[in-house]
Amino acid sequence: ELTNTRYRLGYHVSAPSGWINDPNGFCYFDGYYHVFFQHHPHSAEWGPMHWGHARSKDLVHWESLPIALTPGDKEDEDGCFSGSAIEKDGVLYLFYTGHHYYGDGDKEHFWQNQNMAYSTDGIHFTKYENNPVIAKEPGDNTHHFRDPKVWEKDGVYYMILGSQGEDGLGRAIVYSSEDLLEWDYVGPISKATGLKTEGFMWECPDFFNLDGKDILLLSPQGMHAQGKDYLNLFQTGYFIGNHDYTTAEFTRGEFHELDKGHDFYATQTTLAPDGRRIVIAWMDMWESPMPEQEDGWAGALTIPRELRLKNNHLYMTPVKELETLRVEELNHDTTTVTKELCLVKEALSNELLIDVPLKHSEEQELIISLKTSENDLVLLTYSNKTNEFILKRNDKDDLRYGTIQSCDELSLRVFIDTSSIEIFINDGELVFTERFYTEEKPEVCLSVSEEQTISYTVYRLENDAVSYN
Ligand code: FRU
Repeated sequence: ELTNTRYRLGYHVSAPSGWINDPNGFCYFDGYYHVFFQHHPHSAEWGPMHWGHARSKDLVHWESLPIALTPGDKEDEDGCFSGSAIEKDGVLYLFYTGHHYYGDGDKEHFWQNQNMAYSTDGIHFTKYENNPVIAKEPGDNTHHFRDPKVWEKDGVYYMILGSQGEDGLGRAIVYSSEDLLEWDYVGPISKATGLKTEGFMWECPDFFNLDGKDILLLSPQGMHAQGKDYLNLFQTGYFIGNHDYTTAEFTRGEFHELDKGHDFYATQTTLAPDGRRIVIAWMDMWESPMPEQEDGWAGALTIPRELRLKNNHLYMTPVKELETLRVEELNHDTTTVTKELCLVKEALSNELLIDVPLKHSEEQELIISLKTSENDLVLLTYSNKTNEFILKRNDKDDLRYGTIQSCDELSLRVFIDTSSIEIFINDGELVFTERFYTEEKPEVCLSVSEEQTISYTVYRLENDAVSYN
């Protein structure tokens, strides 16, 4: 039960109460988008993982549904870990990892297998009677063996899993199947080039084709910070490459982070019926402060975002359906800012569009701030000399950085939802996702180093787009 709703989000999926982490089983089935998520319904802490569930007709309005998977059966004794969904002949199949502890209860003493559950109505799920579908990890693997993502290509089903090779490096391994029931090991398709550079375990892999390229999206654990990159405890990012299905070889470039904020992890994608590749993530991070735990809940999912390939990078923009959240235009103006302009006084559920022409001849600095009477909760600065954004949060002592290509106009799109802010820069070239906590309604302001003409629009957004019946 929730004891206080001060930080509850209005249009982001979370659980009715309790803890959530990764999105799972993101799919379109029988007229609805479904998203499941790692969930512990009995407390606001991580615990034996269930699959919580919500569905939506439009990726905007979500209806909370009963828990889809509960752990405790022989094949998932200690948790139903992350996984994915796929439809075949009108049946929705969920693939998930069974988590098992052994020995003295030390959390490092575990093993993992892969299981399936199915449903014809998309609401009630039956665990497959012949689980597990994959009983144990392949011989050259350690016990890190989880997060199946299943897809179909040319009549064959493939499953990619996050794993660790016996050399201690993170890697993604693939199985194939004709019927979703019997799975054959194909082998690793990609592995970390080094422990520090690409990590010891690759969580939540996803693999798909986008605009003619094959993309491996994943969440490596254990990468070391390098300069201004990889500063979170774990990262979510991608490799762009080409996959040869006959030889199972994936040739790829280097790792790029997908979002430069503190609170973005464990992505999953699905295809919309019109062919768009949509991504959603956990809008938190293991090491993040979660003061909402005091209120009986923790964690949420990001807004759904469309992925596109541009300049050999993934760009991420809010799905176009989110425009239907706009209930009122609060302001729309082109104005000259001399020092500081307050764009929204009492931000709660808002979207802001801000366009700033850049003069390459002069040095310009901009600051977007989210603040209360006492605090700068989030400060984002930009300089046209470096094209760098630097983000600072009041409850974190580390900064986050991101650069954009030089441009003539900066365009920012900002989504605020009670305790979250998602900032999309230049059509998704750079994105920062952050949680923030205040019991006041904060202000959003823009400051400039030199007088500057800007255009902006502010919308009030619907703040009860998720129903928890
Ligand atoms: C990623 C992760 C997954 C795992 C799940 C457990 O955040 O560690 O690898 O399946 O969370 O909740």
